[in-house]
Amino acid sequence: MEYILTFGRNPELSLLELKIFLNSRNIGFKLLDFSELAAVLELPELDFEDMISKLGGTLKIARVIDINNEELYSGTGKKIKYGISVYSDTDTSQIKAFVKKQMKSFRLKAMLKSSKRSLPFLSPTEVLNFRLTNEGFELVVFKKYIGKTIALYNPKEIEKRDLTRPKQRPKHMISIRLARILINLSGAVEDSVLLDPFCGYGILLQEAMLMGLNVFGIDRSYECVNASEINIRWLKKKYNVKKRSKIVRGDSQELSKYIKKVDYVATEPYMGPLIKKLPTKGEAIKILKELEPMYLRVLKELKKVVRKNIVIIAPRFRLYTGQRLSLDFDKLLKESRLKAMRGMPLIYTAPKSKMEREIWILST
Ligand SMILES: C[S@@+](CC[C@H](N)C(=O)[O-])C[C@H]1O[C@@H](n2cnc3c(N)ncnc32)[C@H](O)[C@@H]1O
Repeated sequence: MEYILTFGRNPELSLLELKIFLNSRNIGFKLLDFSELAAVLELPELDFEDMISKLGGTLKIARVIDINNEELYSGTGKKIKYGISVYSDTDTSQIKAFVKKQMKSFRLKAMLKSSKRSLPFLSPTEVLNFRLTNEGFELVVFKKYIGKTIALYNPKEIEKRDLTRPKQRPKHMISIRLARILINLSGAVEDSVLLDPFCGYGILLQEAMLMGLNVFGIDRSYECVNASEINIRWLKKKYNVKKRSKIVRGDSQELSKYIKKVDYVATEPYMGPLIKKLPTKGEAIKILKELEPMYLRVLKELKKVVRKNIVIIAPRFRLYTGQRLSLDFDKLLKESRLKAMRGMPLIYTAPKSKMEREIWILST
């Protein structure tokens, strides 16, 4: 079967996340097409709801259909809503006319819903708000492919988790989307052990537990260790999670003192003081100089304890001049004797962040 998967920001990163997610679970696939907005994959029948709930970068999964031979709406309602989201410059006038005709022939009163954002496609929030997947349908059009949405990224569920967790530290917490992307890029699969050596309030660890992993966290701050423990206790109860977790207070520059072996690492380390505006070249160089020895010591320690892969973020400072400055990772890899996956680093950008992130996938 063929499926259209749509992405949000950072499409290349999202596609790599998807490929590693499938490979690490031995799920065979063929990539048939890819653009900035979407990809088409040949995939076996899977639990797509479960899959999208574990991915960070995929927004919609639509099963490719032949609209001439498929009933677009099979529910019992007589008054329905539907959407046609277009992810390429395909002319959809014929598709629209065809859908209208089919709705009429089934005696359905069907209302076409469009995006309020002057975009040719609906956001997952709009699809959810219009209740298209329960009380109607959404068609996804990408080049020659037409698909029907079968699974959606649920921003409301994510927001609820973010807003209701007991311990909050808004400016310092990694986003759930990015946390999931990092975990998946590591190749971590259910029941293995994942370490976050800079666990903060434990957001990444909590996502990993929801994805079926056992977790180990380290943070040098008592306050963070305590907050992580409270948040994890809350998560276990609220989501009925049965996975193992352990958080220790310590310096990750000597992390092999606290843990002997882990399968995977996914982490956003300390990346210098929070910056509110673009730094000057001098400021950026100063922060990078301070961070470099810490990164090196941590990487050397990770080399000792990690069995499989390490996914680690490094800062990339954008200057007023447009120039970018980052750590000399080649040197760090040489000195720690770790290997980077081909094509690294990938860049992650977030609209509100003054800093860009390099994502490195490493193996021992
Ligand atoms: C960017 S935050 C991590 C965010 C976290 N991954 C999350 O899921 O919310 C960085 C954390 O690293 C901790 N930290 C800084 N230096 C450290 C070190 N040498 N060893 C362990 N933790 C450290 C800080 O206390 C802070 O909580």
